[in-house]
Amino acid sequence: MDKYWTPLVKRLTPYVPGEQRNGKNIIKLNTNENPYPPTPQVKQAIASIDEDAIRRYPDPESDELRRALANYHHVQQRNVFVGNGSDEVLALAFMAYFTGGKPLQFPEIGYSFYPVYCDLLNITPTLVPIDSDFKFYIDQFENNGGGIVFANPNAPTSLAVSAADIETLLKRVPDTLVFVDEAYADFGAESVIHLINQYPNLLVGRTYSKGRSMAGMRLGAAFADQHIIDGLLRVKNSFNSYPLDVIAQKAGLASLSDEAYYRSCVEKIVATRDWISAELRQRSFKVLDSKSNFIFASPTSISAGKLFAALSEQDILVRYWDKPALRDWLRISIGTNDDMQKLVAAVDRIVRQ
Ligand SMILES: Cc1ncc(COP(=O)(O)O)c(C=O)c1O
Repeated sequence: MDKYWTPLVKRLTPYVPGEQRNGKNIIKLNTNENPYPPTPQVKQAIASIDEDAIRRYPDPESDELRRALANYHHVQQRNVFVGNGSDEVLALAFMAYFTGGKPLQFPEIGYSFYPVYCDLLNITPTLVPIDSDFKFYIDQFENNGGGIVFANPNAPTSLAVSAADIETLLKRVPDTLVFVDEAYADFGAESVIHLINQYPNLLVGRTYSKGRSMAGMRLGAAFADQHIIDGLLRVKNSFNSYPLDVIAQKAGLASLSDEAYYRSCVEKIVATRDWISAELRQRSFKVLDSKSNFIFASPTSISAGKLFAALSEQDILVRYWDKPALRDWLRISIGTNDDMQKLVAAVDRIVRQ
């Protein structure tokens, strides 16, 4: 029935998320979810929502949540935007700031949703090269007035660039909006949120999905100068007035009130990440120096594609892309210690066969 599809819909190549396979014994290391639950306060906050709040529309501006996020990050409420996952925040930012007709620059290996939004919104991408160590260089971005977006740490490479390098870039490209996607910044990259008041060309994206264990809740945020946030609000209010339901707003607020719990989960993940990186290196994998809650690893005694398929048969899901630059590599999310021990045991079994 695609006769009703517009040429745009026919042309799209939608984003393909990692497989959400169900089952009790599945070890799911393919979508960078947090292996630990959110703070118990989140569940309590959800349980305490009264029926009247469900009957009514939620606060369209999510004021309480934005105020709490502003306090948490030491900025003002007018500098905070929230959305239905950072994917939505990205989409609205692309609409608001990257559809002006000039090319949008991003690394040739990066979050694969960026080219999908470009396709949807008719934005021309300019790909910045990645070297053989999977690094991109900030000085390759130009002040083209079109826009710049990159994830820091980058996905799927797990590598981070420094806040000092980003600041140098912001100074050099004053006519170009720079979206720094900090989805994984909780796990070791230097955040640049503190720079938003100095650089009106900076927009920083954040998510609750990774560090705060709330991927199912769909909560994302952005931080920027008030004028940039106002532009996002104009687009949001021309698209969906209520992107965050009452449950997400309350849950997001509760998560921010238990810093100790959140820190302890992040620390556990970082320790497990460093342990699994060392284990795989001992098995002669190449493993990049991750600042994220996943590692990017390349096996040497078996092809990445074969290892991916063999792991999947044993219900251990990791991420694999059969594309020229990526086909020797696997992206492996950090699970619990137990998950990662099972992964190592499975790798040993598979390689031995
Ligand atoms: C780099 C990057 N940015 C943004 C997102 C979107 O996260 P969410 O929509 O769950 O907030 C992801 C998800 O995997 C990601 O990898």
